[in-house]
Amino acid sequence: MKLTEDMLVMKNEEIAPGIYELVLKGENVRLMKEAGQFVNIQLEGKGLVLRRPFSICEINLPEKEFKVIYRVQGEGTGYLAGIEAGERLNVFGPLGRGFPEPALKEGETALLIGGGIGTPPLYELARRLHGRGNKVITVLGFQDKDGVFYEGEFSQFSEVHVATMDGSYGYKGNVLELIGHLQLDFDVLYACGPMAMLKAIQEAYAKEKRGYISLEERMACGIGACYGCVCDKGGELPYQKRVCKEGPVFALNEVIL
Ligand SMILES: Cc1cc2nc3c(=O)[nH]c(=O)nc-3n(C[C@H](O)[C@H](O)[C@H](O)COP(=O)(O)OP(=O)(O)OC[C@H]3O[C@@H](n4cnc5c(N)ncnc54)[C@H](O)[C@@H]3O)c2cc1C
Ligand code: FES
Repeated sequence: MKLTEDMLVMKNEEIAPGIYELVLKGENVRLMKEAGQFVNIQLEGKGLVLRRPFSICEINLPEKEFKVIYRVQGEGTGYLAGIEAGERLNVFGPLGRGFPEPALKEGETALLIGGGIGTPPLYELARRLHGRGNKVITVLGFQDKDGVFYEGEFSQFSEVHVATMDGSYGYKGNVLELIGHLQLDFDVLYACGPMAMLKAIQEAYAKEKRGYISLEERMACGIGACYGCVCDKGGELPYQKRVCKEGPVFALNEVIL
């Protein structure tokens, strides 16, 4: 089966300022097995050579649909925001390795930590872990009240806590401060968000907790061929790992941030 497909745009709507929810329909949704994998979307109309990577936010197998949530960042995402339902986008994927759900055993609690636009891949994970009968706690961090999205959606499957940096909604501070403030107890953590947040999480928990983090790097091929997306792993040769191929999800102590 080819990994590229012209998928039908079912929906592309702004859900918070500059944040869009995109729903695509196609046969290759059947290949989407893990929360945390991503797709590479071609933005042909814009004439961009390189596809743009986006995490899979939700998989709806019966409808052969999946969802992406994206923030308008530059040329490609700006163009994407103008795409309407009924148009088609060429989607390459699913790609990469996602969050390992079996890492969480029966009766254990998962802590999901999402920072800003790093939140989307955790949604499918929350749904699945909840479905397996595990307790799920989600801590989401945003800059301000206007930027908050998916709090209600996560609350269907988990206990949700929100922090904003300016205190305009929820707890004032960052996600780690909120976790400390609430003294949250958990067995395995799963995180996705800005590098500074992931570094702080690694420093705080790598020695004492099991956990997984999803990284973002600028990407070219998306399939492990160009080495444009490597991150350091230290230790023995090879010293680097490809975020698109060995990742984007890594164990908490697997990479040097
Ligand atoms: C595995 C993976 C999953 C991702 N999932 C999502 C997602 O679910 N939702 C979402 O909104 N974004 C996601 N991103 C980031 C997204 O790919 C970029 O925002 C997008 O490629 C920007 O394209 P652009 O043409 O609009 O911006 P450009 O015009 O290419 O760049 C605009 C600005 O964005 C910065 N930028 C571009 N790409 C990245 C990147 N990969 N990481 C950090 N900074 C970048 C550039 O440095 C520049 O400052 C993901 C990236 C990766 C690698
Ligand atoms: S983007 Fe080419 S190796 Fe990762």
